[in-house]
Amino acid sequence: MSMHLEHVLIDLLNQSSNGSPGTLWIVDENLAPEQLQAVHPRADLCALTNRFEVGEALAARGLQCTVSDFVFDALPAQQFSRIVYRVSKERAIVHHCINESFRRLIPGGTLHLLGHKDDGIKTNGKNAEQVFRTTARLKKHGTAYSVTLLKPTTENPQWLDSKDYLQLRECSVGEWSFISKPGVFGWNKIDHGSELLAQEARKYLQATSDAGAVLDLGCGYGYLLLVTAELPFSRRVATDNNAAAVLAANANFQQKNLPVTVSLDDCGAHLQERFDVILCNPPFHQGFSTSSALAEKFLLQIRKLLNTNGVALVVVNQFIPIERVAAEYFSNITTLCHSDGFKVVALS
Ligand SMILES: C[S@@+](CC[C@H](N)C(=O)[O-])C[C@H]1O[C@@H](n2cnc3c(N)ncnc32)[C@H](O)[C@@H]1O
Repeated sequence: MSMHLEHVLIDLLNQSSNGSPGTLWIVDENLAPEQLQAVHPRADLCALTNRFEVGEALAARGLQCTVSDFVFDALPAQQFSRIVYRVSKERAIVHHCINESFRRLIPGGTLHLLGHKDDGIKTNGKNAEQVFRTTARLKKHGTAYSVTLLKPTTENPQWLDSKDYLQLRECSVGEWSFISKPGVFGWNKIDHGSELLAQEARKYLQATSDAGAVLDLGCGYGYLLLVTAELPFSRRVATDNNAAAVLAANANFQQKNLPVTVSLDDCGAHLQERFDVILCNPPFHQGFSTSSALAEKFLLQIRKLLNTNGVALVVVNQFIPIERVAAEYFSNITTLCHSDGFKVVALS
């Protein structure tokens, strides 16, 4: 997030609502710690996020926060005079949040959308005008934009297509079907990297009669454990930081009668057990460098969660220098295969 965007956001959040119903902050997944430190907790300010670690950081700062898959009904208050939202990347989430914001604002209340040109902020503003039936106020702040919409006293919204955002649904790729929803990573697809990882896991464990306990770190809708269901794991655990992913994964494991313990967590930080196998398609395919905090965090957690004789099978984009970075945390690093722009690496 740029300095400009951060300033506008913080200014809006720190304005008191002077006795009227309060401010709701819809928090995007990329919450910078410095941004959080500048926000002053107040009784009339609450936040809604779909990411576990964002919720933890907000709560640690003393802010009232609800972690859910953007389920506005789960908020402690149902009416707001101001809603502040740095738009998300996924259109279905943005549309859902704009529709829901309109429902929760009092007449005369304001929705503030923030973002950069590349975030589609101007299009989001135009679309929001359709719901609010008013002209939005667009303002440039350096490299950032804010769009302000005033809720009219008479309502005639033309709802945006949110793809029925909250609903889980049946999806299929070829013969294979699964449950998923927008908001989950590659929600209606099979990721090539994950496909390759599952294939390598089968090869790697084929001669094993007891593969022990397995963890899918960053499970999305649960693909990896679903397609390796035939492997002789004695226990299966899956975790993700995204509330939408946890909902979809749980629904899939239940439907397929596969006993899996699923948790909403930050890189499995609250897991108390250790695993013999960790399967991971980490979220750092782009912008990864040896100093990437996210990469370091995943590798550190993998090392912590692995049994002494355990193995982690990790798939990454072929250009990611994972072998070099992982050398700091693991003594055995073997590249099992290269294919389709991906590589699978065994770490122990
Ligand atoms: C590349 S996707 C892989 C998803 C799934 N394993 C698959 O094969 O389809 C990476 C996943 O990591 C999750 N993730 C990102 N940051 C995380 C964190 N701090 N803790 C746990 N999961 C995280 C994302 O929500 C996403 O579901």
